[in-house]
Amino acid sequence: MTLFYTKALKDKLLGPFFVHELGDDMQNDDWLEHIDLLADFWLTQLNGEDTYYGNFIGAHIKVSHITEESFVVWLELFFTSSK
Ligand code: HEM
Repeated sequence: MTLFYTKALKDKLLGPFFVHELGDDMQNDDWLEHIDLLADFWLTQLNGEDTYYGNFIGAHIKVSHITEESFVVWLELFFTSSK
């Protein structure tokens, strides 16, 4: 999770989306909260745990200017950050 976001934050296409919503310091409270939330999200999706009660759609409406190009980068980082 942290590896994914470390790479995302440095990426020229993805980075600005996250910096805009959460800032550029992954140690700040917004980031720590976001990483916890995402861990809960993936535990729910992949392990069937009952940990995520967020607002997936609402969060992405805020970043509705996501482009296909930046989504491709998201997928690449996701699949290269699984260890
Ligand atoms: C280009 C692609 C993407 C970008 C730029 C992006 C960006 C963001 C940003 C900036 C937030 C934080 C919003 C905030 O809290 O203010 C967020 C939240 C989140 N993202 Fe993404 N996202 C992308 C794709 C995805 C994908 C593919 C998934 C999972 C399948 C995902 C899962 C989540 C989850 C679970 C949250 C938390 C939602 C909540 O608040 O409950 N994102 N995303």
